[in-house]
Amino acid sequence: PVPRPLAGRRVLITAGPTHEPIDPVRYIANRSSGKQGFAIAAAAQAVGADVRLIAGPVELADPKGVSVTHVESARQMLEAVEAELPADVAIFAAAVADWRVAHEGGQKLKKTGKAIPPLQLTENPDILATISKLGEKRPGLVIGFAAETEHLIDNAKAKFARKGCDWIVANDVSPATGVMGGDRNTVHLLTKGADGVHVASWPIMTKDEVATALVAEIAKKLNKELTK
Ligand code: C5P
Repeated sequence: PVPRPLAGRRVLITAGPTHEPIDPVRYIANRSSGKQGFAIAAAAQAVGADVRLIAGPVELADPKGVSVTHVESARQMLEAVEAELPADVAIFAAAVADWRVAHEGGQKLKKTGKAIPPLQLTENPDILATISKLGEKRPGLVIGFAAETEHLIDNAKAKFARKGCDWIVANDVSPATGVMGGDRNTVHLLTKGADGVHVASWPIMTKDEVATALVAEIAKKLNKELTK
């Protein structure tokens, strides 16, 4: 039989991009495919977890045996995450839009031949930071992602301090890597030790392999706490 080290654990995962509406037919988006988050959901399910996946708009099939909530915007994603709490582990792999359009058009914006409409942006809620700061309802292990195109480790460390999560998975998404939309990923797992931040750099792997390795680390951490 397959070992099920996450049996009885609820694992919440966000994945994919968000779409931020401009008007009923237009939106702002990003290049996230959702592949890494979906792979983590499948890997956690495979070792017995009760997986709640909250997905932005992606072109991927729902992983087998996983409860999936489909959302579009960052605000909907936060609402869906809150609705799935409590959880033992929360993994925020979604590429949430930092900004949304401040005044969403109720009707399609029209070309008037005169002024070009300005797009005023306003800040979206930070789902990872919001959940990391919860009191009683905070999941025991909160994991964020840091997708960077430069100064990967330094930016990831700064994010660590800012977000209040327990681990950060840092990955280089500069165009030359092919990570965005591709099947491979090179990640660094940042954790906190008594002497500061630890960085474990993993070799280049498929997103499925990254998922399996991350789930194994999670199982190790949770099961160590059990035997303490
Ligand atoms: O600040 P930045 O977007 O780079 O942080 C990335 C991490 O924060 C990811 O784990 C992402 O899922 C999460 N995030 C979020 N809500 C946002 C922005 C980022 O959960 N509005």
